Amino acid sequence: MAEVGAAKYKAICTACHLTDKRLIGSALKGVYERRSPEWVMNMILNPDRTIKEDPIAKALLKEYNNAVMLNQNLKYKAQTL
Ligand code: HEC
Repeated sequence: MAEVGAAKYKAICTACHLTDKRLIGSALKGVYERRSPEWVMNMILNPDRTIKEDPIAKALLKEYNNAVMLNQNLKYKAQTL
């Protein structure tokens, strides 16, 4: 599962996220030190709603100049590549 996730991440997340440096989105290194796994899951599975309803995500949207994180229609299950 981790391998599938890593490949997915490289394919669809790195256009906006790097590990160590802010790009269009934040540097994701250490994200679990500042957010809970549930929060990260909501952000990944349903960014549009999270950006609308969650105070932390709303603040991030402002901080990132209203650049909207795309909803990539990911599902909570192991996906094949
Ligand atoms: C189109 C650019 C874009 C893509 C693609 C994207 N993101 Fe984002 N992401 C953002 C932006 C911008 C933010 C900051 C919130 C906002 O402005 O919407 C963000 C925020 C986040 C956050 C919260 C970070 C923090 O510092 O709390 C996480 C976690 C995250 N993204 C994970 C992912 C993952 C995993 C993927 C791939 C499935 C992904 N993102 C794809 C642009 C993107």
